[in-house]
Amino acid sequence: MDTQNKYVALVTGGTGGLGTDMCKQLAHDGYHVIANYQNQEKAEKWLARMKEEGYEFDMYQADVSDFDAVAAMIAKIEKETAPIDILVNNAGITRDGQFRKMTPQNWDMVIKTNLYSVFNCTRNVINQMCDRNYGRIINISSVNGQRGQFGQANYSAAKAGIHGFTKTLAMEVARKGVTVNTIYPGYIGTDMVMAVAEEVRNKIVAEIPIGRLGGTEEIAHLVSFLASKEASFITGANYAINGGQHVY
Ligand code: CAA
Repeated sequence: MDTQNKYVALVTGGTGGLGTDMCKQLAHDGYHVIANYQNQEKAEKWLARMKEEGYEFDMYQADVSDFDAVAAMIAKIEKETAPIDILVNNAGITRDGQFRKMTPQNWDMVIKTNLYSVFNCTRNVINQMCDRNYGRIINISSVNGQRGQFGQANYSAAKAGIHGFTKTLAMEVARKGVTVNTIYPGYIGTDMVMAVAEEVRNKIVAEIPIGRLGGTEEIAHLVSFLASKEASFITGANYAINGGQHVY
């Protein structure tokens, strides 16, 4: 473990399927890791489990779809710990269903949680990163933001929007030592993917050339790389990690 690395990393949705292994990997890399969460009960159980596994994480609650709640969370982190050096915009939800039946509520909820959150969190850390001439923003999109997916008009729209944001912000802050990149995970073995009906999921897995779901640790390794100092010339980029399911 690199104990010299004192950078502070915030992972939104840190207690979730992908977030957990991101937190663990960043801890192994030596960062001071903060997991953002929404559900108190779930987060407390998660923290206890992490402690049993030997991890010490700070946790901060905020609904990432709410700008003011995020602003308050970031202010609290800065006061109690330090400014954030690495932001992983990972929090996300699904409300799948074919578009002809999609409710405005399911559209709004997904766009706000998956896309507005990226604005809300990044907007609250970006000036501090620019002032310190260092930062890493890593945005977690999805293969379904690149290629579309039956039943995910809301999710695909939000996830596609993320990379437009990445490209523009990358240009705006490049001279300030801040990099901004997008990761496009494919189907990874999380609760979110396991919630897809087995029969539908099996058909999806059959379309993946590597022949299996991805592992959460495989996404975490890519996050770790993009968070590193060594990745300083990579910005505005998009990294697909989908077992060959979508090549472009
Ligand atoms: N292609 C073509 N037609 C399809 C279809 C598909 N993939 N899936 C369903 N249909 C058809 C059905 O056969 C049905 O046809 P009929 O009306 O002729 O019988 C019709 O569409 C409607 O089916 P449903 O009533 O079941 O539709 P629904 O609105 O309830 O939703 C669904 C269907 C639940 C969205 C289902 O299609 C599904 O689970 N799709 C997969 C969604 C998915 O992959 N989600 C990923 C979640 S994980 C994640 O998002 C992480 C990540 O980043 C990868």
